[in-house]
Amino acid sequence: MIDMKVGRVMVTGASGLLGSAILRRLQGEADLLALSHSQPLPGFMAVDLASEPDRVRVQAEAWDALVHCAGHRSPDFCETHREEAFTLNAAVPGYLGQMARMRGARMIHISTDYVFPGTHPPYKEGDPCRPVNIYGESKLEGEIRVAEACPDACILRIGALYGVPSVRVPSPMLEEGLTAVLAGKPVEQDHGIKRYPLLVDDVAEVVCFLLCHPEVGGVLHAGSGKAVTRYEWALLIGKILGCDTRHVKAAVSDPARRAPRPPDAGLAAGRLRDLGGPVPCDCDKALPDVLARCSDWAASHGFSGRK
Ligand SMILES: NC(=O)c1ccc[n+]([C@@H]2O[C@H](COP(=O)([O-])OP(=O)(O)OC[C@H]3O[C@@H](n4cnc5c(N)ncnc54)[C@H](OP(=O)(O)O)[C@@H]3O)[C@@H](O)[C@H]2O)c1
Repeated sequence: MIDMKVGRVMVTGASGLLGSAILRRLQGEADLLALSHSQPLPGFMAVDLASEPDRVRVQAEAWDALVHCAGHRSPDFCETHREEAFTLNAAVPGYLGQMARMRGARMIHISTDYVFPGTHPPYKEGDPCRPVNIYGESKLEGEIRVAEACPDACILRIGALYGVPSVRVPSPMLEEGLTAVLAGKPVEQDHGIKRYPLLVDDVAEVVCFLLCHPEVGGVLHAGSGKAVTRYEWALLIGKILGCDTRHVKAAVSDPARRAPRPPDAGLAAGRLRDLGGPVPCDCDKALPDVLARCSDWAASHGFSGRK
């Protein structure tokens, strides 16, 4: 049980990969207001945060703290949908920041390692940002607007997320790796761009810590220590599952990706550690347990029993 005296916590994007992990973590510990968008889920309030009338509905609700997870997370989508990306990832956080400040609510805003160019890792909170794609630009603009609208807010930057996938909540990074390994067909996986996979439950733990420590403001990095390319990620999955991975080949680039990626945007977790917060664990430590919980996903994708 945690010492949470924040009152009612509103979680935007609560139907998504990270938001649903945060809901799971806070269930029973806090009074929750869960927001979804396209998914009409029981107990959730479905809103389009890009729509002014829907934001008025959100404003009318009683909430004392806000964890803002909703966003366009796909760099490739954002690269070709600049206006939608900037509306949801930049303008909306600014509006929510204004609402939070007006009611004196704690705000935790989720941002990304993609605000950095990825050339000089590990990045500290004060290092200069220079995004290489529209997703990163829109998220950086979101950070700026939150900081202006709600100076006490905490802006939590995180890296690539994974969790146990379900029918309703996909986990693209893990599913792509599992599919590459289990399909058994020759497949190429990028071996150029380094990522530091973060278990969503670890990020939920950091959010919980920040709700209990409203004095922590400004930018905060929650990074893990182990870097993998998509190719190394697939090999790691195969090793843990005891699968043959000779069909998985390293590729130098991925022509299917429209948006450029930072080559290595690793985040330094020094500030989080100094604050006594829960630093996310490396993916090789967390993956065995996560994979052991993927049997439903494997069965529903026809992978049961394959090695
Ligand atoms: N995934 C990663 O690897 C990663 C890495 C770094 C940072 N992040 C950041 O982490 C946050 C959460 O990412 P995620 O992976 O959990 O994303 P996700 O699974 O794609 O979830 C996105 C959430 O946003 C909601 N949403 C979409 N459009 C909306 C709108 N117009 N109004 C209100 N809600 C809307 C969705 O609701 P419905 O599903 O109901 O439509 C969903 O709950 C994002 O800010 C992302 O930038 C993610």
